[in-house]
Amino acid sequence: MYRTHTCGELRIQNVGEKVTLAGWVQRVRNMGGMTFIDLRDRYGITQLSFNVEQDAPLCERARKLGREFVVQIEGEVIERESKNSQMETGEVELKAQGLKVLNASAVPPFTVDDETDGGEEIRMKYRYIDLRRNPLRKNLELRHKLAIETRKYMDGMKFMEIETPYLIKSTPEGARDFVVPSRMNEGQFYALPQSPQTFKQLLMISGYDRYFQIVRCFRDEDLRADRQPEFTQIDCEMAFVEQEDILRTFEGLVRHLFQSVKGVELPEFERMTYAEAMTKYGSDKPDLRFGMEFIEMNEIVQNKGFKVFDDAELVLGICAKGAGEYTRKQLDSLTDFVKRPQIGAQGVIYCKVNADGTFKSSVDKFFNPDQLAVWAKECKAEPGDLILVLAGNSSKVRKQMNELRLEMGSQLGLRSGTDYKPLWVLDFPLLEWDEETNRYYAMHHPFTAPKPEHAELLSSDPKSVNANAYDLVVNGVELGGGSIRIHDRDMQAKMFEILGFTDQEAEDQFGFLMGAFKYGAPPHGGIAFGFDRLAAMFGGTDSIRDYIAFPKNNAGRDLMIDTPSIISDEQLDELNLKVETDK
Ligand code: AMO
Repeated sequence: MYRTHTCGELRIQNVGEKVTLAGWVQRVRNMGGMTFIDLRDRYGITQLSFNVEQDAPLCERARKLGREFVVQIEGEVIERESKNSQMETGEVELKAQGLKVLNASAVPPFTVDDETDGGEEIRMKYRYIDLRRNPLRKNLELRHKLAIETRKYMDGMKFMEIETPYLIKSTPEGARDFVVPSRMNEGQFYALPQSPQTFKQLLMISGYDRYFQIVRCFRDEDLRADRQPEFTQIDCEMAFVEQEDILRTFEGLVRHLFQSVKGVELPEFERMTYAEAMTKYGSDKPDLRFGMEFIEMNEIVQNKGFKVFDDAELVLGICAKGAGEYTRKQLDSLTDFVKRPQIGAQGVIYCKVNADGTFKSSVDKFFNPDQLAVWAKECKAEPGDLILVLAGNSSKVRKQMNELRLEMGSQLGLRSGTDYKPLWVLDFPLLEWDEETNRYYAMHHPFTAPKPEHAELLSSDPKSVNANAYDLVVNGVELGGGSIRIHDRDMQAKMFEILGFTDQEAEDQFGFLMGAFKYGAPPHGGIAFGFDRLAAMFGGTDSIRDYIAFPKNNAGRDLMIDTPSIISDEQLDELNLKVETDK
């Protein structure tokens, strides 16, 4: 037996016991006649003590141990002279009587401490060492707990976990596919699933009316903190349901996860239409931890001789409570913020409501105090508040103001803390028009059903059709999204037609689904949650990378195994991928 206990286990009650531990050497401290070693494993750290007077050769061997050596120690549990209340095992230590080096270690490239000295790149390269550190270990434990609790809840609700294939045919979810060449079928490729969308629908047709799967999805898209090329979804589908059934069932899942994993009782899930979210917050995933709703100011600011406002399609204001004391420098930095290319505004106009009720604005030349008082009234600004105004093209101004609102929320400390504000965003448009390719795209995916009351408009006015689709947003993060699906063959054919598929293309790509619709497809709908995003939210960050054991960097590379990488000519040949090059 390698060990009788783990390094996180021994307590005062164990004093006097003979035990064996195994683990990694965290650090070695020599103090006169004593040597102390912190021995670490997944469960914690136990202090080992070696006494020169009692066993000089053993002590000498202990002193020679390097960081991250793997050792096995026999000894007796004794009460510590100076206890460490910060450590769970801090009341005891192991008086070593035997030491076996199970494996030596090279000097690690960075310290295996909570605060490490290793930079991002080196830690990614040696991820297997980084994963020994507490913060990452805790993240993976959290992820594990979320998976277990998800399975418990879903099982309790009679959902069946069913695996679907990874080598499939392209399913459009809006990103590019990763493809895999087929050796046995020359010139043909599999695609890795962007999601198991069509398979879960087929399972409904097969009668498995409550399906879920914690499943890997693959999308070749630009990467950000909240996006990885391979990521995990809690993917779900139900038959014989309407939107309301889905919202209630999965509100239940999310509540259960917050309760059981975080001990948080979520407030009521708010609901808002897409149109309302865009009007009030300029975003389909508004952070509702703070107000700062948009105020349309066209009527009160136009035709007063200020060209920027007069020429604008939309003038929008927000009221930042308590920011009236902003200095010139802070206001200038807000201007720099909105002028950044990613945001692209020309500038921001401000109006401070001073403590004595007077105003100070960047447009004092054009607006007198009486007019500014109207701004303050419309924006519900009180003494000590700051009104910020952007003007220009409607959709651009909304997007820019969304960024400015979030920035002000952050600056005023309204986006931190442990408040959670869940929100269902409903009634998304079914289609989006793309100017570049001159065609409609499905806003969610092509299998999403229109609102029944809008189905008639599909032929006459497709862009005004709303979808039976919903997103779950928590604190401005899109945690999940889904829809009621089309289950009628003709309707699905119509949808493909609107999306610009010829009959032949629809048949080639989705013949299997259209075929299945002929054989008794029940009404159905579902949702998928971003599992990595959920874990990151529970851990309190935006970055999902730290919640994935072996993630990719922003260039889509795994620095540890150094991939993507080239493959041999033989492999290329076998896969019929050999490219002729001009020599
Ligand atoms: P959707 O594309 O909205 O829906 O994806 C569902 C959720 O998955 C997460 N997500 C991601 N997480 C990390 N990295 C990515 N690259 C990434 N892309 C998406 C998000 C998102 O809300 N088949 C539909 C679901 C359905 O209709 O049932 C789908 O995949 O949190």
